[in-house]
Parts: sequence; C-alpha cells; structure tokens
Amino acid sequence: MDILLDCDPGLDDAVAIAVAARFSNLLAVTTVGGNVGLDHTTANALAVLDLLGRPDVPVHSGHDETIRGDIPIRATEFHGRTGTGSIELPRSVRAPDSLDAVGFLAKTIRSHDGVQPLWLVASGPLTNVAYLASSAPDAFAKLDGISWMGGSATYGNATPGAEFNAFTDPEAAQIVFAAGHSNLIMSGLHLTHTVLLDRLWIDRFTAEVAGSSTAVFAEMLDYYERSQRAVTTIAGAAVHDAVAVAVATHPQLFEAQRYAVEVMTDSGAARGMTLVDRRPYRVKAPANCSVVDAADGAALAALIWESLLPPGIH
Ligand code: BDR
Ligand code: CA
Repeated sequence: MDILLDCDPGLDDAVAIAVAARFSNLLAVTTVGGNVGLDHTTANALAVLDLLGRPDVPVHSGHDETIRGDIPIRATEFHGRTGTGSIELPRSVRAPDSLDAVGFLAKTIRSHDGVQPLWLVASGPLTNVAYLASSAPDAFAKLDGISWMGGSATYGNATPGAEFNAFTDPEAAQIVFAAGHSNLIMSGLHLTHTVLLDRLWIDRFTAEVAGSSTAVFAEMLDYYERSQRAVTTIAGAAVHDAVAVAVATHPQLFEAQRYAVEVMTDSGAARGMTLVDRRPYRVKAPANCSVVDAADGAALAALIWESLLPPGIH
C-alpha cells in the first residue's frame, strides 16, 4: 500500500510516521501547523525520518494558518514547545522538498499508477487536505482512502465537546466531510483514548532500545505518557495518530460503521464538535464517513513496538 502522510509532529505523529514507514510504502510526508507551528512540525518530520533511517522520504510543508486565516491554539501541554517534548532531536541536514504540500499532493495523486492502493493519512488539522479537496477535487476523489485521526463521537480534549485536530480548523474539517469522498474514515478521540501504551510497556520498550538509534523514541514516549498523566486520568499514553495509520495498513484490527458526520463551525461552545448521527432511524442524512469504534489495542501496541525498533532489526 502507498501512503501519503499529512501530519503535525507532535509526539504521536512521530510514532505515526514510524508505523507508516514500517508497514507501507511511504511516498512522502507533508506537514501542517497544529500541535506546534509549521516550522517545528516540518523540522520534526525531517528529524524523525532521519532517526528511522529514511532520509529518502520526501517532506513537503504546507499550511500553518487555518482556512479562516488564523494561527490556532497549540498543544504544548502535551507536546512541549517544539513538538518533541523536552527532547531535542538532531536537526536534519535536509530542508523540505517544497513549501507547497497541497500542490505536491495533487500532482502525486494524479500521476499515481494505481498498481498499489493509494491512501492519504491525516494526523493533524485538515487544513492541507481541505485545500486539496477544493483545489484538486479530481485528485482528492482518486485517493483509495482517507484515514483521519480527529474528531470524537463522545467528549473532546480541546474543549468539552471538540477534539484538538477538529477544533483547530473546523472549517477545513467541514470542507473535507462535505466533499463526498467514498472512503473517508474517522478515528476519533472516543477510539484513540482506548489504545494506550501504559507505563509498563514504555519501561519495557525503553530497556529494549537502550543505546540504539531509536532510543530517543522511548524518551519521547516517556515524556508523552507523563504529560498525559499530568493532565488526564487516563492510564497510559494515547498514541492517537498511529491508530489512523494502522486503520489504513491493518484494517482487520478495527470495527467501523458508516454515519453522517457534521462538523460544527459556529463560534459557540460547540465549535469543532463532530456530530455523528447515530440515531436508529430508517431515514436520515446519507453517511459521509466511516467512524471507527473499536480496535485491537494489544495488536496495535505490538505493531508500534515493531515500528520503533532500530532499522535493520525488523
Ligand atoms: C490529536 O491532537 C494532537 O495533539 C495529537 O497529535 C493528535 O493528532 C489528538 O486529539
Ligand atoms: Ca497529530
């Protein structure tokens, strides 16, 4: 499977890059502003690919501002000021291959030969993806699937109702949900808060990779687990973004159902909420999305473990 990964690394985005690099043919990483600003998300994507021994994967940076043109809130309480916690990754000698992620995505999708399925995985705000849907609808429609980590069918984290990626750019999310793609999949917070790497897992993993080139991932997960424990009552690190990659690469590990999902774009308390129409009614708005409701958490943790081992050990 060929994957294009649009992300805002971000600690769990870093894990998502590792899973995509391990279990797909990762064609490119594109970056968006989200957890931290675009300069940091781009530098982090380049640095993470270096750590994984994949400096061959192109990186294209995209939008920092939202569709409305504002610079959104950042998620520094979970990801630190630069997006990698308190860990300073070795800066890549590479620069991004272009500053036009959307143009790059359109061109790459249009020229894709279709031999392997082509998926777009989005693990940040949907700003770049919305620009793709509106400026290149043919390319957007040609994608075999779009797997997004974002939204929620229950509670939020940015606000009581809204998940961070949806809340950061609700207009973008609304554009993507309204664009009518036949295979849009949402892994929301209601799901990703059930896929946890607990303290025992992180300590074991830390021992496993000690002294190796990927030991820094153990440090990042350690920081991430501690920051989540400080803010939430959840017993482990929710590596949200890795889930969206696995939805594309390992669909057998998930249960999903199609629903109509609307993104609230008004300025009130519901801004950024994803309203999933779960009414058991015979007549209702047509479904525009598959909502993932269950995952095999143990299998996912094993995939993540394998992805973060030093290159050559797989
Ligand atoms: C999402 O928000 C970000 O902080 C994470 O990287 C993830 O994409 C979870 O709500
Ligand atoms: Ca993210």
